[in-house]
Amino acid sequence: MRNSRPIILFPLLCFLSSTISILCDPNPLVCNEKEKHALLRFKKSLSDPGNRLLPWSVNQDCCRWEAVRCNNVTGRVVELHLGNPYDTDDLEFNSKFELGGEISPALLELEFLSYLNLSGNDFGGSPIPSFLGSMGSLRYLDLSYAGFGGLVLHQLGNLSTLRHLDLGGNSGLYVENLGWISHLAFLKYLGMDWVDLHREVHWLESVSMLPSLLELHLSECELDSNMTSSLGYANFTSLTFLDLSNNNFNQEIPNWLFNLSSLVSLSLSNNQFKGQISESFGQLKYLESLFVSANSFHGPIPTSIGNLSSLRYLSLFENPLINGTLPMSLGQLKYLEYLDVSFNSFHGPIPTSIGNLSSLRSLGLSENQLINGTLPMSLWFLSNLENLNVRGTSLTGTISEVHFTALSKLKDLLISGTSLSFHVNSSWTPPFQLEYLEADSCKMGPKFPAWLQTQKSLFCLDVSRSGIVDTAPNWFWKFASYIEQIHLSNNQISGDLSQVVLNNTIIDLSSNCFSGRLPRLSPNVVVLNIANNSFSGQISPFMCQKMNGRSKLEVVDISINALSGELSDCWMHWSSLTHVSLGSNNLSGKIPNSMGSLVGLKALSLQNNSFYGEIPSSLENCKVLGLINLSDNKFSGIIPRWIFERTTLMVIHLRSNKFNGHYSSTNMPTFFSYSVGSC
Ligand SMILES: *[C@@H]1O[C@H](CO)[C@@H](O)[C@H](O)[C@H]1NC(C)=O
Ligand SMILES: *[C@@H]1O[C@H](CO)[C@@H](O)[C@H](O)[C@H]1NC(C)=O
Ligand SMILES: *[C@@H]1O[C@H](CO)[C@@H](O)[C@H](O)[C@H]1NC(C)=O
Ligand SMILES: *[C@@H]1O[C@H](CO)[C@@H](O)[C@H](O)[C@H]1NC(C)=O
Ligand SMILES: *[C@@H]1O[C@H](CO)[C@@H](O)[C@H](O)[C@H]1NC(C)=O
Ligand SMILES: *[C@@H]1O[C@H](CO)[C@@H](O)[C@H](O)[C@H]1NC(C)=O
Ligand SMILES: *[C@@H]1O[C@H](CO)[C@@H](O)[C@H](O)[C@H]1NC(C)=O
Ligand SMILES: *[C@@H]1O[C@H](CO)[C@@H](O)[C@H](O)[C@H]1NC(C)=O
Ligand SMILES: *[C@@H]1O[C@H](CO)[C@@H](O)[C@H](O)[C@H]1NC(C)=O
Ligand SMILES: *[C@@H]1O[C@H](CO)[C@@H](O)[C@H](O)[C@H]1NC(C)=O
Ligand SMILES: *[C@@H]1O[C@H](CO)[C@@H](O)[C@H](O)[C@H]1NC(C)=O
Ligand SMILES: *[C@@H]1O[C@H](CO)[C@@H](O)[C@H](O)[C@H]1NC(C)=O
Repeated sequence: MRNSRPIILFPLLCFLSSTISILCDPNPLVCNEKEKHALLRFKKSLSDPGNRLLPWSVNQDCCRWEAVRCNNVTGRVVELHLGNPYDTDDLEFNSKFELGGEISPALLELEFLSYLNLSGNDFGGSPIPSFLGSMGSLRYLDLSYAGFGGLVLHQLGNLSTLRHLDLGGNSGLYVENLGWISHLAFLKYLGMDWVDLHREVHWLESVSMLPSLLELHLSECELDSNMTSSLGYANFTSLTFLDLSNNNFNQEIPNWLFNLSSLVSLSLSNNQFKGQISESFGQLKYLESLFVSANSFHGPIPTSIGNLSSLRYLSLFENPLINGTLPMSLGQLKYLEYLDVSFNSFHGPIPTSIGNLSSLRSLGLSENQLINGTLPMSLWFLSNLENLNVRGTSLTGTISEVHFTALSKLKDLLISGTSLSFHVNSSWTPPFQLEYLEADSCKMGPKFPAWLQTQKSLFCLDVSRSGIVDTAPNWFWKFASYIEQIHLSNNQISGDLSQVVLNNTIIDLSSNCFSGRLPRLSPNVVVLNIANNSFSGQISPFMCQKMNGRSKLEVVDISINALSGELSDCWMHWSSLTHVSLGSNNLSGKIPNSMGSLVGLKALSLQNNSFYGEIPSSLENCKVLGLINLSDNKFSGIIPRWIFERTTLMVIHLRSNKFNGHYSSTNMPTFFSYSVGSC
């Protein structure tokens, strides 16, 4: 590297003597014997369940070993790429390739090592070896997510040529004194996410001394506002990336931050920062990402936000005291792709300038109850929009097919809880394929929305309380069987479900006009709420239905229908059940013994039927029962003692039966209703 002549000569030499193959080997260097043996000792002390280092064999040139790089002039080892190459969602799989064990000081013999990457391995909570502080040629040291623990030693301060130091993702590491960091004058990247820094009140003085620093990662470091100084002068003014998210800061944004005029990404999310969002933000004119969500800021967004002309991500959500109107100047952010101001207190209309955000892909205004007016016409030209979330605003007006012509990329349309009505032609074919449609409480009826059948990618459909007064069309149930969650409650939808097999994880058809015998269920159904409809016929075919697999059903609410007959002894097929609500039907007979097999049962409501007989002793097996409502039936006999002794049982209703003796009901609501929620 120091002398580049051999590199220039090499191809020429090769060309002249192309018949002499050894000279034409692109990597003719042979590794240093001493370094080879140091590496073998290093390997020996490691555990390597995935056999990643198996190819490191004594018979081979160590410069050709997996993960080893040599200087191509001197043949000395300069880089060790031992980061876990697997970072998939399957943690168990990744862990098979984790190196562990002991890091041997044999590494010290690699005098020219400039890059050492051990990230993503698992050293089982052991401390960072102090000898690393003597590896004076290191420029890159990546020990992130490698299961290190204990005190971070000041010896690392000896690595004066370091460019890149990553200790992040080691939740067991802590720092008492960070003074040593200021010796790393060339440091460009400092990663300390998850490292506990709360004992070090001087951290800011130390890192601010680093004139070359470009990236500073300090997320989840237990930092608070207990700092010794308000910084007089910050020397890290080249900083482009600063992450202070997930700490405990509770002061106003300190002024030095606005001197970091090169910042491209700033995250202060999940703290308790106070005060107004300062006009000074406008000075950070290279910002592309600004994340200040989940803090305690108050007051309006300053107009100067419009000066951040490179901004692509702006996240302000969950600052409940941020108020005022959304500034017109937002419209100047022509590169903005992501805007989320949900869960704040904005009021007034959405500025028409929103239509200037031609790069916008995601717009979140939800849970700002004072945002009113209509969706501005200009919004419907944002042809890159994938996610529109205005849930819980006071927006009004009618949306029709003309609005959507440009929105071919729309995936999530969340308008629940607004006063928007959705009025489209029954033959409409939308240009988009939705994944989420949440339109609870929006007017969509009276006709069943036929356009839904064009939507082949739906994951969650919620058109509860949408004024539909119609029969569910024949295509619907087959179409719906691929949708994970369906919420149609509180409409006047009718239809006979006798021949239908429901296959949704969550399905809420409650408070409609569905009729016929109960539908059948696939094993996938977890929550079924069909309360308050007109289902009739015997309940036993439903209870004892044959299923292709073990049912996952946890919640069943069939109350307020016209079902009849006895509960069959088939409860053992429903062992996942936690909530059973069968009240207000015409059911009769005894409580079958098999109900005692529901060991996870938390709530049982059978009230207002014609059940009789004694409470079976098997019910005592339902150890986590918290609510039992048997009132308004013909139960008789003695009420078993365990009912009153069970500490988990919070709500007991037994009145209007023929039990012997006296008892007192708990003073709780008589009706159990399980809230299914929304998408
Ligand atoms: C040697 O390494 C240097 C820097 O790493 C690189 O630029 C050069 O192309 C390499 N030469 C050969 C012949 O591989
Ligand atoms: C270390 O290795 C991991 C996994 O291969 C990689 O993702 C990471 O970028 C490497 N770190 C550095 C500083 O090169
Ligand atoms: C750190 O460097 C100093 C001076 O260069 C040296 O005396 C000391 O031994 C080094 N410490 C470690 C742990 O390498
Ligand atoms: C601030 O930190 C110092 C040193 O850890 C500690 O002595 C002091 O009590 C802390 N003050 C507050 C207000 O937490
Ligand atoms: C911020 O910049 C101003 C003017 O450039 C300077 O006077 C001030 O000392 C700086 N503050 C910090 C904390 O660096
Ligand atoms: C800031 O950095 C400059 C050189 O970049 C240096 O001369 C100066 O001493 C540093 N200031 C502090 C307070 O470290
Ligand atoms: C924002 O830009 C305007 C015009 O470009 C300028 O007058 C104003 O001072 C800037 N505001 C801030 C806070 O930088
Ligand atoms: C914003 O909230 C503050 C209190 O935090 C209040 O004094 C102010 O009047 C509110 N402004 C608007 C426009 O609602
Ligand atoms: C929006 O764009 C139009 C046309 O490009 C421009 O005239 C207008 O000033 C812009 N509005 C804002 C708030 O940026
Ligand atoms: C929006 O609400 C404000 C009160 O906060 C009211 O003055 C204004 O008339 C409302 N605008 C519309 C279009 O409803
Ligand atoms: C509905 O669309 C069809 C075909 O596009 C058209 O013929 C009809 O007039 C439309 N109906 C209404 C009420 O817009
Ligand atoms: C039932 O849902 C599962 C996904 O939960 C899906 O894989 C399967 O194809 C669906 N079955 C039918 C008959 O739609």
